[in-house]
Amino acid sequence: MSHGIDESQSTSQTEFGRVKALLERMGETLEDGEVPMQILNDDAVHQLELERIFGQTWVYVGHESEVPEPGDYRQRTIGEDPFIFVRGEDGDFRVLFNSCRHRGANVCRAEKGNTSHFRCPYHGWTYKNTGDLVGVPQKAAGFDHLDAEERGLHEAPHVEEYNGLVFACVAPEVEPLEEFLGGATWFLDMYFDLIDMEVIGDPHRWEVENDWKTPTENFYGDNYHIPMGHKSAIDAGVGSDTATGEKESNLYGIADCDGHGFSFYQIESEEDSYWGHPPEVVETFNHDALDDDQHEVARKSGVTLGTIFPNLSFIFLGGRDDPEKDSVGTFLLRKWEPRGAGKMEVVNWILAPKDASDEYKERVYEVGMSNFSPSGNFEVDDVGIWYGIDEAAGSVFARQNDDVNTLFTMGRGENPAATVYDEWVGPGTAYLEGGMTDENQLDFYRTWHEAMTSDGGM
Ligand code: FES
Ligand SMILES: [Fe+2]
Repeated sequence: MSHGIDESQSTSQTEFGRVKALLERMGETLEDGEVPMQILNDDAVHQLELERIFGQTWVYVGHESEVPEPGDYRQRTIGEDPFIFVRGEDGDFRVLFNSCRHRGANVCRAEKGNTSHFRCPYHGWTYKNTGDLVGVPQKAAGFDHLDAEERGLHEAPHVEEYNGLVFACVAPEVEPLEEFLGGATWFLDMYFDLIDMEVIGDPHRWEVENDWKTPTENFYGDNYHIPMGHKSAIDAGVGSDTATGEKESNLYGIADCDGHGFSFYQIESEEDSYWGHPPEVVETFNHDALDDDQHEVARKSGVTLGTIFPNLSFIFLGGRDDPEKDSVGTFLLRKWEPRGAGKMEVVNWILAPKDASDEYKERVYEVGMSNFSPSGNFEVDDVGIWYGIDEAAGSVFARQNDDVNTLFTMGRGENPAATVYDEWVGPGTAYLEGGMTDENQLDFYRTWHEAMTSDGGM
């Protein structure tokens, strides 16, 4: 027996040393705009990022409109850990650990619902929707020593909301959410102060054979892939008016934005754009809520996309699902959930302006689903490519060769394309040709690397 324990210890030491060396190598290659591909599909890296990233930082759990009434709940994960996002009977949000204080079973088994109590299916312990333990079968006979007040469900120690977006952090200490969001608040204010939005229907969820970091990095603003990777969708005349060339636009990439990354199309025209929303919907917006600079960016906005570290991306798409139909403004929130090395679950929410007509909301949903969902025109293009990256990343060949790196040097050197746009009014650094810089995407890997090596020893 002892031999087995020694062996497993030495295996984990070897793995630790290997990941340490890999992260050290990445620290060097990052300066040259290169990222070791192996970090995308590696069990030890995956375990470490669950602890050092998802166990330490703010992670999105849901939109307040998903739990409007006391007792409304949704099952959600932080990294791979099971939680219940619930509005308690006192009206407060909580993010409760979905594990009974008796023997650990999931007390909530349904994906969503409304309940005053969660009753554990194993032995029947019962908790209020605030997490308090209120029922223990045969307590007098066997558990009269139990102090129920000490046995409520565990909960994420930090839960904060910004513009309706609810985040939680499971670490004992964390900076305030707004500080963590930093420059990203400028974009979030632009969307959510201007437009009261709500989630339409239930989120789509599906599993994909690629690492969560691959789409995360893409949604920091990989505009370079659009003409090639999405050619078939663009040729079909679906998707955004800016990508199809229906409307002329400038594309900007935002880097140095406190670890988050964005890119956006601006349609230089007197005609209002507002991400493709028609005038009768634009009329319902809170135009006074933005300052003049923000308002002008919103007015000219075609597609905007971005990622809030670690794994919440969004795309605000002025577009269509049929070249014969009018464009609508669809806002999609997407969470790339880690599910083992080289695997993820996508959670995809579609949002629409709350004050728009039901008919318009339905169109928003249809256009969102047709472009970004398990069978979405743009989704299948991406996923069909991404899984191959992770297959290569997890290969023996990638492990054995120190130069199997992905490249993020576009726009460096003498290239004139990625000029800094000095007149940018928002946060971070804007690159004038957003499709021709990798600086925003490199920010993701810089932030990831910093978090992964934050324990000093690594
Ligand atoms: S595990 Fe929940 S009541 Fe026993
Ligand atoms: Fe794509």
